This record gives sequence, C-alpha cells and structure tokens, in this order.
Amino acid sequence: MAEKQGLPAHVGIIMDGNGRWARKRGLPRKMGHRAGANAFKEIARYANKIGLKYLTAYVFSTENWKRPKDEIDSIIALLRNYLDEMENYRKENIRVLFIGDRTVFDDDIQAKMRRAEEQSRNATGLTLILAINYGGRAEIAQAARRIAEDAAAGKLSPGAVDEAVFSRYLYTAGIPDVDLLIRPSGEYRLSNFLLWQTAYSEYVFMSGVLWPDFKPAMLDEALAEYRSRSRRFGGLSEADS
Ligand code: IPE
Ligand code: IPE
Ligand code: MG
Repeated sequence: MAEKQGLPAHVGIIMDGNGRWARKRGLPRKMGHRAGANAFKEIARYANKIGLKYLTAYVFSTENWKRPKDEIDSIIALLRNYLDEMENYRKENIRVLFIGDRTVFDDDIQAKMRRAEEQSRNATGLTLILAINYGGRAEIAQAARRIAEDAAAGKLSPGAVDEAVFSRYLYTAGIPDVDLLIRPSGEYRLSNFLLWQTAYSEYVFMSGVLWPDFKPAMLDEALAEYRSRSRRFGGLSEADS
C-alpha cells in the first residue's frame, strides 16, 4: 500500500486504450469500455483506501462525439448503470462530483448525477471527479463567458480578474490543481484534459498497459515515480537553495 506521506493531493487519469484492449481480443469496442469501467471502479476504491484526497478520471471528452453512434450509446449505457451503483460510494465515504457540460444528456442521467453528488456531499474520504462531456478548452471558454457576463452585470470588476478569480469560474472551483497526471496506452498527449489545472503537474505515461488492465499496483508505481520527481514550480530545488 502506498505511504500517505508524499502522496499527491490530486491525481488525474486519462483512461485510454479500451478500444485496443478489445481489438487485441477480437471483441467489439464496447466490451473494452465495459472492462475499462470495471478497472475504474477498482482504482477508485483503491485510491480511497490509500487516503488519496482527489482523483479525476477522464470518462468522455467533448471530442469523443466524433465516434460511431453505437459506440457512444454503449458508453452512455455504461454510465447509466454506473450511476445506479453510486449509492455504494456513500457507504465507502467517497464524495462524487461531475465536471463537463452535462446539459446535453437525457434528464434521467442529469438527475442521477445530481443525486449522486447530493447523497455523497458530506463524505470525507476520496473526492472522485468524473469528467464527462468534458473539454479543457470548453471549460476555459465557459469561464471566460461567465466572467464577461458578471462584469457586464456589474458583479465583478474586470481589473479584479486574476488567476485565483478565474479558477473559481472553472468546473474545478475549490479543487486543488492536478499534482500527478497518469496516461496509459502509449499516447503522449493531454487530449484536451484539464488544461488549466495541469500547468505544473508531473506526467507519468505508462505505455505498457491499456486501461482495462490497469491495476492498483500500477497506481502505486506511478505514485512512486511521482515521489522521485523534484517539483520546482519555477523556483529552485531544496539542494540548490
Ligand atoms: C478510452 O479508450 C475511452 C474513451 C475515450 C471513451 P479508447 O476508446 O480511446 O481506446 P483506444 O484509444 O481506441 O484504444
Ligand atoms: C481521451 O482519449 C479521452 C478519454 C480517455 C475519455 P481519446 O482516445 O479520446 O484521445 P485521443 O483521440 O487519442 O487523443
Ligand atoms: Mg483512445
């Protein structure tokens, strides 16, 4: 089990490789998404067990609508099922939040999201954040739009808009920046995930594993790699100062 000391406050995971996992087995892509959902449930539970405070998982991007309709439908069906299981998180003391534009989803899905957030709002363990219909640029654009609206309404002075104020208009208001960003599957890019919040993240790309095969021990590996990094945030390391 990972030691609590040196644990990042916020881990982001780009859950990539479901399609390739299925193809390798001669299965339809939706089976890869199903296996990926199971891997996600295990990792969320493990993150809570080791005392992680924030875990954000990239579930569906604003760009993923480019995929075939039957694949999108299968992902949404998995989401529906998953939302129905979320009551378990209350028992496990996990707080659930969703980020992204949820207004595009059917009313029942939006209601389930609201219910999961409300029922778990007082949990004090892991805060599990699911990025669904999420895009980093869309998030920044909606923040800019709402800031402009508040300024036009006289609620905010344009001169007062600094990084701290801007952050409060993001979906992640009140949540610390990402310390560690993990991406399996062999792609070395952000794919529009948490653009603002990863400005000083440590990146761990794990090319040897596709998301459905991702195990708690691999999260431990990434956490160990994180502990070995020297974070300077533009300053000097302890050895140099
Ligand atoms: C990630 O796996 C899941 C989503 C993007 C919804 P992919 O479906 O992107 O899997 P690959 O990258 O095609 O293997
Ligand atoms: C990023 O993976 C989105 C999610 C994991 C939800 P993609 O598979 O969509 O990213 P690209 O297309 O390889 O950049
Ligand atoms: Mg992919």
